[in-house]
Amino acid sequence: MKKIVIAIDGFSACGKSSTAKRVAAKLNYAYIDTGAMYRAVTYYFLENYINLTNPKAVEDALKKIHIEFHHNQRSESNETYLNGLNVEDEIRQMRISDKVSEVSALPQVRSCMVEQQRKMGRKKGVVMDGRDIGTAVFPSAELKIFMTADFETRSARRQKELLEKDQLVDLEDIKKNLLKRDHIDTTRQENPLRQAEDAHVIDTTHVTLDEQVDMILHLAATKIIDNEPSA
Ligand code: DC
Repeated sequence: MKKIVIAIDGFSACGKSSTAKRVAAKLNYAYIDTGAMYRAVTYYFLENYINLTNPKAVEDALKKIHIEFHHNQRSESNETYLNGLNVEDEIRQMRISDKVSEVSALPQVRSCMVEQQRKMGRKKGVVMDGRDIGTAVFPSAELKIFMTADFETRSARRQKELLEKDQLVDLEDIKKNLLKRDHIDTTRQENPLRQAEDAHVIDTTHVTLDEQVDMILHLAATKIIDNEPSA
């Protein structure tokens, strides 16, 4: 069966990763969480006191960063490795969420990550979630999804998700963080978050995870069949 690229973009905390992960598992595709890549870069920059206003320092730091995903059989999910170290828990902390949009708005950071993401999806058979996958990383992706949800729902979901990782964060702090990231992610110069013209919009406010996954699998099936070489 011919493999396709599935691009899932949208605002923070709309359920992109949980959905993308399941869609990938059902199709036996690779799942790439591009937000985790920007988070890993942010973690490295913070740990190494990289001055974001110094392009040379940013460029040098990027050369020292190697990001990989490895499947953890116990959690049944991909985990993020930075220079050989598992940083999956560290990159989900609020101190990283507070800085990640600023770091990912830097043109050098974007071009470095986009290049790696294109390599990861070169062979297709991949579900990639992020902000600019359908618009910039894979503008010719066979299937593009744009996920949205209302602000209250997104905030509550993010709080629950953090609590499941033993982080109790005030709802107001979560809202402030989401608002700040929405603003930076949609207004940055380079590849801002926007809906691709040919994306299918899924509003997840009143939809369950299973329903979201089914919608995407249904759309994917039509593309996979469309892509079948004719006999
Ligand atoms: O998906 P996430 O919330 O973990 O992403 C963290 C941040 O990374 C997000 O606020 C903006 C940035 N990001 C990006 O600029 N481009 C992507 N393709 C993915 C994430």
